[in-house]
Amino acid sequence: MRKGGSNWVDGENFFDRDTELEALEERVREGTHTLLTAQRRMGKTSLVRELQRRLAETGEFEVVFVDLEGAFDPADAIAEIGVQARPVHAAWDQIKNRFANLLRNAGDRIEELSVADLKVTLRAGIGVGNWAQRGDTILAALSESGRPVVLAIDELPILVNRLLKDETGQVTPAGKREVEAFLSWLRKAGQDHRNRVMMILSGSVSLEPLLEQAGLSAQANIFPPFDLKPWSEETAVSCLEALARSYGVGLGPEVGRDMCRRLRCCIPHHVQMFFDRLHEHLRRAGRKDASLEDVDKVYVQEMQGVRGQVDLQHYEGRLATVLGRAGYTVALEILTATAVKGDITTETINRYRNDFMTRDAHDGCGAPAFDHVLHVLQHDGYLEPNDGGYRFVSGLLEDWWRGRYGQSFVPVFDR
Ligand SMILES: Nc1ncnc2c1ncn2[C@@H]1O[C@H](COP(=O)(O)OP(=O)(O)OP(=O)(O)O)[C@@H](O)[C@H]1O
Ligand SMILES: [Mg+2]
Repeated sequence: MRKGGSNWVDGENFFDRDTELEALEERVREGTHTLLTAQRRMGKTSLVRELQRRLAETGEFEVVFVDLEGAFDPADAIAEIGVQARPVHAAWDQIKNRFANLLRNAGDRIEELSVADLKVTLRAGIGVGNWAQRGDTILAALSESGRPVVLAIDELPILVNRLLKDETGQVTPAGKREVEAFLSWLRKAGQDHRNRVMMILSGSVSLEPLLEQAGLSAQANIFPPFDLKPWSEETAVSCLEALARSYGVGLGPEVGRDMCRRLRCCIPHHVQMFFDRLHEHLRRAGRKDASLEDVDKVYVQEMQGVRGQVDLQHYEGRLATVLGRAGYTVALEILTATAVKGDITTETINRYRNDFMTRDAHDGCGAPAFDHVLHVLQHDGYLEPNDGGYRFVSGLLEDWWRGRYGQSFVPVFDR
């Protein structure tokens, strides 16, 4: 098993998740669509990629993976689905036929075009007025390809968020209409091609709070959620041991358990990161065996040091995207208050709510409602209920947050 890095993993580098793979395979075989949810870095993309790899290997299914991170509107999304359908030969032949006008210029070179060039070509023929119809054509081609298709759509919530809001983070009526139209189309496609195209939707932010904020929750109801949980301590320790074996590192179970306890929540990416930092530390020290002292040193100096902070920025970036500037400021305060104290009580939350309402009334900056921010923080796995209040789910994230913002923090009621 090789180290995971920060991109998705599959095949030999994919560890555990047998129960989840089995459950998702069952859903696919029963023709059920899925909304895959989990907090950040839990391995959603990897799980879908690995599921698709295994299903494709059986020869019974076709698989298409679409990433909408770069899509700005429904037409971009349709072009992306179209171009990613290329490996499904029967579908691609049909798509080429139906889009013949557009693709004619490319002539015989069409099979040599890069995915990016092909997408530009397809996109040129898809616009505001015809994306739904073009999308129908592509979905029909997939549906009639001979084998059932597992269509994974990753980062759908990023597109939904982009469509929904203006630059201040406020939901606009036009954005809402566009999201409604796109999700209705997706829903209808899912129903029309039942048992032939099974969709798995996922993303690095949660779809539900976004839809709830826009009053569009019903749009996702043909996609039953599947919640991907962190690894248990036992699984995470086994993963650390497997990595240690691959890299010739001596890592006893008590060392592995200590690492997991520090993380508190065994998010696969954090487990991988911890191993990687420990491995590098041992290499620098010219040793092979990891001790509890090594773990302590690596956790404090490496995981929470400058390089760890880079990963934290990744979290902050996504939060800022989904909450907008004003909502993000509120999230920053709540998270910092929680990290500094170890938890946050309902009373403190209420103080922040009141403070926020007063400030919002003054500057009218269009912040999403305070409770929406809390909902996102809970849904995306930052905070969990604890004794009537909240605390950080992940020990690492809590330590990161305290390290970064704790020192300059002044509680709202002390100002
Ligand atoms: N099953 C797994 N086995 C081993 N490593 C894993 C597994 N799942 C995830 N990882 C580790 O976590 C990292 C992130 O995985 P992935 O990109 O699949 O997560 P994600 O939930 O899609 O993240 P994001 O929230 O950013 O979209 C991988 O690079 C890998 O290091
Ligand atoms: Mg992902």
